[in-house]
Amino acid sequence: MSDSKVKLTVDGKELEYATIAGSVGPKVVDIRKLYAQTGMVTYDPGFTSTASCDSALTYIDGDQGVLLHRGYSIEELSEQSSFMEVAYLLLRGNLPNKGELDSFVHTITRHTMVHEQLSTFFRGFRRDAHPMAIMCGVVGALSAFYHDSTDITDPVQRMIASHRLIAKMPTLAAMAYKYSVGQPFVYPQNDLSYTGNFLRMTFSVPAEEYEVNPVIEKALDRIFILHADHEQNASTSTVRLAGSSGANPFACIAAGIACLWGPAHGGANEAALNMLREIGTPERIPAYIARAKNKDDPFRLMGFGHRVYKNYDPRATVMQKTVREVLTALNVSDPIFDVALQLEDMALHDDYFIEKKLFPNVDFYSGIILSAIGFPTDMFTVLFALARTVGWVAHWNEMISDPEQKIGRPRQLYTGPAPRAYLPVEKR
Ligand code: ACO
Repeated sequence: MSDSKVKLTVDGKELEYATIAGSVGPKVVDIRKLYAQTGMVTYDPGFTSTASCDSALTYIDGDQGVLLHRGYSIEELSEQSSFMEVAYLLLRGNLPNKGELDSFVHTITRHTMVHEQLSTFFRGFRRDAHPMAIMCGVVGALSAFYHDSTDITDPVQRMIASHRLIAKMPTLAAMAYKYSVGQPFVYPQNDLSYTGNFLRMTFSVPAEEYEVNPVIEKALDRIFILHADHEQNASTSTVRLAGSSGANPFACIAAGIACLWGPAHGGANEAALNMLREIGTPERIPAYIARAKNKDDPFRLMGFGHRVYKNYDPRATVMQKTVREVLTALNVSDPIFDVALQLEDMALHDDYFIEKKLFPNVDFYSGIILSAIGFPTDMFTVLFALARTVGWVAHWNEMISDPEQKIGRPRQLYTGPAPRAYLPVEKR
């Protein structure tokens, strides 16, 4: 609680609502009794002013461009830690010591295989299916394979399900890719890192030895860190809402994947690279900027703008740096990177983008790196889902273990017909 109160006058009657202060960031007005006291509900489509829960995982200051996981800045985490450390941090609350990290990595590594029957499940899909369509299906199907970790009232089962999801996502993502290119599935190999293993399952073939490139491994691990969690975004809120009914964790994560697929959310990295390729050369940039500013044109600059960041997305800064590292390591030059840099520069000097506080987000540069590594564009959102699984399970655990947790059930402003009498069909 905090000292300040918010007063509301309804039909001449003054009501007082307490405010609650978090550890950092804006206070919230506690309106839980509003409906009982006034018969009114709040109206906030898109939840722009609504805190749906309390959470100790991630803090964002959108005006300052700050992102913290359990208090640690994304810049420090992406520079100094590994995706497994960040996964531990988000799930357990603190950075692991050496022994804790080794044990966590051991546990995750031992869960990377999937039930053999799942491989036949894949064969029901068309070869040209979007891998996100496959992921929605197979991740949901995990609940049919791992019955022994679906009792959500048991904290041990909850943690086993969380480990399984984090561990099996790379295997399933690689299988989705292999299926689309008609190559055999590659089993995980336990002496590789989480990210190295994923690269090998994706890009190796049984006919040849595969060596993980450490620069690519590091870059992809960093990309996973940058995508690990982002507070109450659309897919995380979807996971929480699905989980609030008591649904099993595999079903909840499948719901999150479905939400992430949309072009306004996780699908933006694919859309951003497609856009940059369509622009193609720097001299075509002004035409696209003009289209983005035209109210009558639905076109938006993909990878630009964010619901929360009204400043540079700190993940985009790290991502831009990583593009340079990867292109240098692979000794390739991608003209699309120049288009991206110039587009960013022109947009950041344009009044429309300045006024609306539109900056590059995490998706603006990620496609260039993923494409340089060799991933086809339709796999980009799958990689996002793989990394975000860590955040999803951490939020799901946080929610289920909250004693005050209840089913999520928003209200509405009804705009349909008022009560009216039913007319038999011959009288209509
Ligand atoms: N290009 C051009 N104009 C834009 C853009 C853009 N990328 N983004 C927002 N605007 C404009 C809108 O037209 C609107 O203008 P108006 O006030 O004149 O109507 C204003 O900026 C505010 O935009 P909203 O859509 O109301 O902002 P909201 O917070 O709802 O949307 C969103 C945020 C969905 C991310 C939006 O900026 C967008 O569509 N960006 C492109 C897609 C994208 O990159 N998504 C990835 C988000 S990050 C992530 O999911 C990892």
